[in-house]
Amino acid sequence: MVTGGSGGIGLEIAKVLARNEFDLVLVARKRDTLEAAAGQLEGKYAVRVHVFAADLRRPESPQAIFDFLHNENIPIEVLVNNAGFGLAGEFADTKLQRELDMIQVNISALTHLTKLFLPAMIKRGSGRVLNVASTAAFQPGPLMAVYYATKAYVLSFSEALAEELRHSGVTVTALCPGPTRTDFAASAQVGNSRLFTAFGVADAAGVAEYGFAAMMHGRRVAIPGIKNKIIAQANRFSPRAVTTKVSRMLQETR
Ligand SMILES: NC(=O)c1ccc[n+]([C@@H]2O[C@H](COP(=O)([O-])OP(=O)(O)OC[C@H]3O[C@@H](n4cnc5c(N)ncnc54)[C@H](OP(=O)(O)O)[C@@H]3O)[C@@H](O)[C@H]2O)c1
Repeated sequence: MVTGGSGGIGLEIAKVLARNEFDLVLVARKRDTLEAAAGQLEGKYAVRVHVFAADLRRPESPQAIFDFLHNENIPIEVLVNNAGFGLAGEFADTKLQRELDMIQVNISALTHLTKLFLPAMIKRGSGRVLNVASTAAFQPGPLMAVYYATKAYVLSFSEALAEELRHSGVTVTALCPGPTRTDFAASAQVGNSRLFTAFGVADAAGVAEYGFAAMMHGRRVAIPGIKNKIIAQANRFSPRAVTTKVSRMLQETR
């Protein structure tokens, strides 16, 4: 199952899964986009694709998704918690509701879905969880404070869970992409930031391939791209105040 599987990185992960003969469940809000994605995948690969339209801003959505799959007798072997969004701006000025929704989608829904689907994986002694974090997880992000904090949660949660599950046959991988060409930048209003304009933007298909391979190898943290790896490592050795200032500079527009 791929949340946010109708576009961007999620759709590319769905394509890689389909190419590797996984039947799919795609979740997103817009049913027509979901059905178009399902048609595209079923037309190209020998897989069955189910769609479930749900708004993960609603706290009841994870249970509704779980109940639907339970009733349809569809077991989940791979859970890809990919749906997420960002919002740029000074925290004092940004819209509270959008940030509360972001926490619900990026953190609460991801946690809730993992809680619901994990027991069956543990019982089977096999399963994979791929949580889409970001390079934003490695440092605070002034001018996008809430988004960076949500991704720090995803990384921390995923690494802790991976350790708890290390003898269970279930693996947890945090995929941490840097700037990637999707609808994300426009929706978060960060398309003009230095981060997106000065250092190149990755291709979503490459990010998905990398994440899939890391997940299948059971790696706990997957950072696609050498530049992103260096930045993530450098942050571990730099004073926090310095990384926070650099992060602000990257979030600013040129
Ligand atoms: N692009 C980047 O630069 C970048 C970098 C690092 C990490 N990421 C992370 O990668 C993940 C995917 O982002 P993306 O770049 O692929 O974004 P995207 O192109 O905007 O795609 C987002 C996907 O999530 C779905 N979605 C959005 N809000 C939803 C909601 N409330 N409930 C259910 N589904 C929802 C969208 O479909 P509907 O609109 O139909 O719901 C769509 O399928 C996110 O977690 C993002 O934080 C992105």
